[in-house]
Amino acid sequence: MTQAPFSQDFARRLDKTAEDTEALLGRVLSDEILENEIARPRRLLEAMRYGSLNGGKRLRPFLVVESAALFDVPPAGALLAGAALECIHCYSLIHDDLPAMDNSDLRRGRPTTHKAYDDATAILAGDALLTIAFDITTRDEIHPEAGVRLALTRALARAAGIGGMAGGQILDLAGEGRFGDREPVDVARLQQMKTGALLRFGCQAGAILGKASPSNYKALDDYGRAFGEAFQIADDLLDVEGDAAALGKPAGQDAALGKTTFVTRLGIDGAKRRLQNLLATADTALAPFGERADILRAAARFVAERKN
Ligand code: IPE
Ligand code: IPE
Ligand code: MG
Ligand code: MG
Ligand code: MG
Repeated sequence: MTQAPFSQDFARRLDKTAEDTEALLGRVLSDEILENEIARPRRLLEAMRYGSLNGGKRLRPFLVVESAALFDVPPAGALLAGAALECIHCYSLIHDDLPAMDNSDLRRGRPTTHKAYDDATAILAGDALLTIAFDITTRDEIHPEAGVRLALTRALARAAGIGGMAGGQILDLAGEGRFGDREPVDVARLQQMKTGALLRFGCQAGAILGKASPSNYKALDDYGRAFGEAFQIADDLLDVEGDAAALGKPAGQDAALGKTTFVTRLGIDGAKRRLQNLLATADTALAPFGERADILRAAARFVAERKN
């Protein structure tokens, strides 16, 4: 595995993508009324902005931008695709925090959207962030070829929907035993879906925008899959070992809710071992790209070592 020299470069590039994403989301979520829209009610727009601006590591847009860079895709289209993905991620967080789901009061160091507004506004802000993502992926600025925009839109829909994030979220709730069925939970599948699918899409998006060869697409997809699972294991470890001040969200919540995770399945040490194995898998998957993919290698290490 390539070691440290890229960590500073990594931090600088992650910051840059975060800044660019923030600016882009600020523009997309403005009061400008687009063709076919009737009005943008202020309360809903404010709640959408509250749930998506001023925070977040913006790791998903980073994956899009850096995967796309492997194929020399101009950053503007990749950033826009990343912003669409971030809208879906932020919607998933707003809904994840609702009283009917994880019932969290704190997100990114601030009251969650339903605390700052109310449940109904938070539900609608999530809905509208979800739909605006698909408005964004169909825009000409994403890529000049309609076929590429179509492939991107379909991949995003599948990552977000029943076969991806939303499907994973219901498996997560089932893992609490709240639907009464005591079927054993497939934790790997649950995590690949609830968290892995959107992160994996970040890598797929780079390959789609770059019109990658099937083998390069597969390499990035394999990396994205390992990255996604590693990410959620790190999240579950942080829930046990981290603290709310650093996390900007409550700690100890998974145990309180009786969630099924790799930490409950394998114990802390077992989960850490699995995380290390996934990092090795992610690293191996990037072999076809050589040193050009060092930034993505650094991203995988960051995910394992992060404190929030
Ligand atoms: C948190 O994701 C939710 C999970 C999918 C585990 P992130 O840790 O990427 O959250 P932000 O966007 O940086 O706040
Ligand atoms: C959330 O997983 C995954 C999605 C939002 C899809 P968690 O419930 O573990 O995320 P946190 O810990 O609340 O950020
Ligand atoms: Mg959850
Ligand atoms: Mg949660
Ligand atoms: Mg969590």
